[in-house]
Amino acid sequence: MNFSDFKTINHIWAATCITAFLMLLLSCSSNSPKYHIGVSQCSDDIWRDKQNAELRMSAYFHDNIDLKFAVAYDSDERQVQQIDSLVDSGIDLLIVAPNQVSTISPAIDRAYDKGIPVIVFERKTNSNKYTAFISADNYEMGRVMGEYITTRLHGQGNVLEIKGLEGSSPAIERHNGFMDAIKGQPGIKVVGTLQGDWTEPTAYEKTKQWLANNKDVRVDLVFGANDRTAMGARKALTEASPSTLHSTLYCGIDGLPGENGGIQLVRDSLLDASYIYPTHGDQLLQLAIDILDGKPYEKETMLMSAIVTHDNARVLLMESDEVLRQSDRLEQLHEKASGYLQQLANQRILTLLAIGFIIMLLLLLTGYYMYQRQKARLNAEREQMSRDQLDFYTQVSHELRTPLTLIEGPLAQLAKTDDVQTASPEAADLFAIVRRNTHQLTMLVNKMLDMQVGGKVGDMPVEQFDEITVSHPIAEPAAHDVTEEAPTVLIIDDNADIRAYLRTVLKGKYRLFEAEDGQKGLEVARAEVPDIIISDVMMPVMNGLQLCQQVKDDDITSHIPVILLTARALSKHQIEGYDSGADAYITKPFAPDLLIARIDNLLRNRHLLKDIWQEKTTNSSTPNTTAAPSVTADTKEDVFITRFKKVVEEQLDNSDIGVEDLGSALGLSRVQLYRKIKALTGYSPVDLLRKARLAKAQQLLLSTDYAVSEIAYKVGFTSPSYFTKCFKDEYGKVPGEARN
Ligand code: FRU
Repeated sequence: MNFSDFKTINHIWAATCITAFLMLLLSCSSNSPKYHIGVSQCSDDIWRDKQNAELRMSAYFHDNIDLKFAVAYDSDERQVQQIDSLVDSGIDLLIVAPNQVSTISPAIDRAYDKGIPVIVFERKTNSNKYTAFISADNYEMGRVMGEYITTRLHGQGNVLEIKGLEGSSPAIERHNGFMDAIKGQPGIKVVGTLQGDWTEPTAYEKTKQWLANNKDVRVDLVFGANDRTAMGARKALTEASPSTLHSTLYCGIDGLPGENGGIQLVRDSLLDASYIYPTHGDQLLQLAIDILDGKPYEKETMLMSAIVTHDNARVLLMESDEVLRQSDRLEQLHEKASGYLQQLANQRILTLLAIGFIIMLLLLLTGYYMYQRQKARLNAEREQMSRDQLDFYTQVSHELRTPLTLIEGPLAQLAKTDDVQTASPEAADLFAIVRRNTHQLTMLVNKMLDMQVGGKVGDMPVEQFDEITVSHPIAEPAAHDVTEEAPTVLIIDDNADIRAYLRTVLKGKYRLFEAEDGQKGLEVARAEVPDIIISDVMMPVMNGLQLCQQVKDDDITSHIPVILLTARALSKHQIEGYDSGADAYITKPFAPDLLIARIDNLLRNRHLLKDIWQEKTTNSSTPNTTAAPSVTADTKEDVFITRFKKVVEEQLDNSDIGVEDLGSALGLSRVQLYRKIKALTGYSPVDLLRKARLAKAQQLLLSTDYAVSEIAYKVGFTSPSYFTKCFKDEYGKVPGEARN
């Protein structure tokens, strides 16, 4: 398995774990509410508090019901807004007790038209856009109360009625039921009908006002549209005339259980009777869920109810108190249960976090383990490789020893023979070089073996090898003369043996100069302007690459071909060499013939430049008057030749001008100018100067009537006879013949 396999496995692992973790998270977040139910209450009072509590309590028995309550505090405008925003919040069903019959209907219609089921309860609208209606029968309640009152007053007495909120359906229906019941009772007289709004303070105020205007009217019974209204009237009446406290009866509707509820008020004789107006929140919620679940349901539900009188108040209160206690306990139970549920949820989150953490840890550990395994494998491979390498080197070193022994031994023997003892100095030199370097090689191999035994070959820095290889005998720099005409070669190498060897290889053919480092080599090159430079690369003071660059940058030496001769055989090293401007790169060990062939080849190629120049010079009838450079390419050498020609042209008629003057005009010494011009053109500067004078003379012969001697002086000759001789040598005829 390689590293990319390892990465792939890790990715798969990670993906699997993350997916599992997400699924766990999803499974734990899946108890989001199933149904959102909006409850819009027109008012806020103990009756509605009881109903809301029942709704909430019932919701506990169903899974995932979200109840959203809105209370309008008897304001139509507010209730319309609340219904709209409940609908906007995305409820699944709307339960609404509309404040007034007509004003709330448009909002309910809007909800219904949006496809939201609507349950209207307890108070009616004037639209038929609703899904179900549930309520007790308010007309029946009013009627039953009317009959009760008639009986209670024995068909004789004054009744003050205080109605519920104007425009709300229970107010209208209760009033109608009551009126219908007493219609046939002439003894029952309604002495006043006040407009209430379901609240106690309004009933109190209205009654107080009425009493002020009807001081002499006796009130036997007050019928309040609800218990609170009846109690408001009672307060006003007893305040006005405390004597009525025991004579006036008060009847209401609602009959709520609990402290200060209608049932208790009846039991305590504060009210004479009440009528249980059922809240039935549980039934309301069940209806809603049936609708949402798509189960069958009654569109109109009438809730059963009963009158509360002094006779049954005690029993009813006992029962209702029991119910209240039970629901209290239920509430407590629920609180406990939800506490446990919360704990459970927290634990679940903790568990999930722990699982996540463990997965991460596992991932990390697996990754780390795989990484370590991979690392160990790579290390083992590397170690094996260097062991193999070491074995190989050791073997090669051992193998080298045998041939070396077979060279060194015979060489030692040979040294003692007469052949060597009486050999030529050159042969003796070569023999000494061979022996010295064979010994050097033996030492080197021994040193390598020592290191391999210590197992350090791979650790040995390259410089250490260099250190071993550069310990050579002392150099002996010298210049060598052959014929004056032979090309000159500058040898630059810090190894004296190499220089000595090169000397023996090149001696007969070239004139030689030597230097032991780049710096000295450069000095010799500038002073002697050799025809070619052979240089080592790795040398102290200045290396071969720097030398090469400087040679090529210098006007005096820029034309000299450079051969780099080096042990550095890698192609990147060769590239470095060519980049520094080298003309050839020969690696050690080298065949002497190859080196000579390369030198000659470079010298020949250099002569090509000379040929081109010559051709131009001889083909042109007026070589000295043309200012155009002979070679078009703008190389350093072309520029130099152009400059040279210009200097020559300017000095044509000056017979005193010498090579020294031409050189100083170009910033070169006599030798430098000579060598450079000779190398580039094949002619000496003197030759070129004469050629230029003769060419100019030829032009004058053809284009003027000057006498030959006059022309000779004009082009810088001091002797007309010498001029004639030179002219004949150059053009094959004397000047007079040329003119004709
Ligand atoms: C509660 C209440 C009750 C009354 C009913 C009429 O808001 O005022 O007292 O019976 O509304 O809708």
